[in-house]
Amino acid sequence: MSITASITAVGGYLPDYVLTNQELETLVDTSNEWILERTGIKERRILKGEGLGSSYMGVRAVRELLQKRNLDPMEIDLLICCTVTKDMVFPATANIITDEVGAKNAWGFDLEAACSGFLYGLSVGSQFIQTGRYQKVVVVGVDKMSSIIDYQDRNTCIIFGDGAGAVLLEPDTTGHGVLDFVNFADGDGAKHLHMKAGGSRKPASVESVLAREHFVYQEGKAVFKRAIPGMTQAGQELLRRNDLTADDIAWVVPHQANVRIIEGAVQNLGIPMERVMMNIQRYGNTTDGTLPLCLRDYEKQLKRGDKLLLVSFGGGFTWGGAYIKWAYNGA
Ligand code: COA
Repeated sequence: MSITASITAVGGYLPDYVLTNQELETLVDTSNEWILERTGIKERRILKGEGLGSSYMGVRAVRELLQKRNLDPMEIDLLICCTVTKDMVFPATANIITDEVGAKNAWGFDLEAACSGFLYGLSVGSQFIQTGRYQKVVVVGVDKMSSIIDYQDRNTCIIFGDGAGAVLLEPDTTGHGVLDFVNFADGDGAKHLHMKAGGSRKPASVESVLAREHFVYQEGKAVFKRAIPGMTQAGQELLRRNDLTADDIAWVVPHQANVRIIEGAVQNLGIPMERVMMNIQRYGNTTDGTLPLCLRDYEKQLKRGDKLLLVSFGGGFTWGGAYIKWAYNGA
């Protein structure tokens, strides 16, 4: 049988500080009721502390994964860090993480596809396993969204949170693992969701800081309109290509952007909400962290052979999905 890339361990890290809807009410003109009704979010985690970036959370997610699998970090071949909030413009946050966890034999790189970053990273990482080239690939999804969120902008500050998740990919010859993926992109979406300054087009200046251009700019409605069709398209394509019906799917693992987006997409896929992983209530949208953090939260309920459908939509626009046959009993 051919080689597939199985997820053999998951890890994660969430900062201690809880930013509640009630606290947001003191920062912007909003209400707990509005946020709950329009997004489903109750609270999110925020990484506090001078000089702590995404790598701080990524390192802890990878350490948890290594400990669970009882793995020597020297065995890691490659680490892909999916993030839009790198520690620094360069070097790659992946390099900082590999250094701090002691993965001295690994190389790595950062991958940026906004909220679909983790799925893109999973697609890339699984190829290095499938070809037989590597035995251990780690894909980290991490974001310190609080570093690029304007807590004076009620359109965005209510949605996002900080967190990290990570998965270990290893070869499998029993038909389990990442069995298929689809990824899409439409650069025209950039105008609806981006950060105006800080890149090469508009480097940081006194003016850009004063104009609050180093924060997420989002046209919520425009993103919302594309997100449900995008996630639906990815899911339907994977079901069709793999001769699956909605009944075959044990769990949908959707990107956690807004409960209404998740409900719309899974309804289109014909899958009941009881089989949908959700943690947006507690963490908000952690961008690259949402999918691996869902897997971590539901790990104990997962059984070998469960068929999982991961779907995502995000800035770029980027969207996609993965079909995974789970490889181990979580309990
Ligand atoms: N609190 C209270 N009122 C708010 C508010 C807030 N935090 N944010 C917006 N409003 C107001 C608006 O000003 C508007 O008032 P008006 O009718 O007087 O103009 C009203 O609520 C409706 O605003 P709208 O933008 O249409 O709300 P929405 O239902 O689209 O919800 C989002 C806004 C951002 C939650 C929603 O569009 C969304 O989730 N979009 C997708 C975001 C996303 O997924 N981003 C990450 C990429 S994956």
